[in-house]
Amino acid sequence: MTKIAPSILSADFAALGAEIQDVEQGGADYIHVDVMDGHFVPNITIGPLIVDAIRPVTSLPLDVHLMIEQPDQYIQAFAQAGADIITVHQEACPHLHRTIQLIKQEGVKAGVVLNPATPVDTIRPILQDIDMVLLMTVNPGFGGQSFIDSVVPKIEQLDSLREELSLSFEIEIDGGVKPGTAKKCKAAGADVLVAGSAVFNQEDRAAAIQSIREDA
Ligand code: DX5
Ligand code: ZN
Repeated sequence: MTKIAPSILSADFAALGAEIQDVEQGGADYIHVDVMDGHFVPNITIGPLIVDAIRPVTSLPLDVHLMIEQPDQYIQAFAQAGADIITVHQEACPHLHRTIQLIKQEGVKAGVVLNPATPVDTIRPILQDIDMVLLMTVNPGFGGQSFIDSVVPKIEQLDSLREELSLSFEIEIDGGVKPGTAKKCKAAGADVLVAGSAVFNQEDRAAAIQSIREDA
């Protein structure tokens, strides 16, 4: 069954604990945490302090998406704050293998993120070392953007490569996921769908999660 990872970027930050409990009760599989530094992406969001604050309110894995430059400097802080999965951008990591090892040394699952224009081939040598690949279907920085259809063949390519190499990393998709686009991601081989606005902008979060999961 497709996993759904609501992104708290679209939640009500004044009621963050209750918002997270609401999506957990509504059937979410992961809580997706978007960390932005105002350098790698043109927006600033949250840091380890918030991860630490939300850790006790949910038993779901915290899926921490680092949209930051020099992630090596912050990996330990996010791990200690309670991250279960940390993903870093290929475009932000000149020494990607080292960065992945740093994440794993902290006992956290490690993943790599690709922007829409970054080819899948750029991470082929590291696929055997990672637990997740996150393919962006928007340019990172903001919630509520439109799904970029031209990324769908990358999902198919990555799924085929995973089979060819007999690997088992998860394929996660992030950006513009809602009923209609979720279907295309699943058909192409995605395992985990991040959804921000399509979950948190709906009154009934359980119904929103279900409609994304069951979009076929
Ligand atoms: C974008 C973030 C996404 C974002 C998705 O930079 O990485 O996780 O919250 O938001 P929606 O689902 O609204 O496109
Ligand atoms: Zn994200």
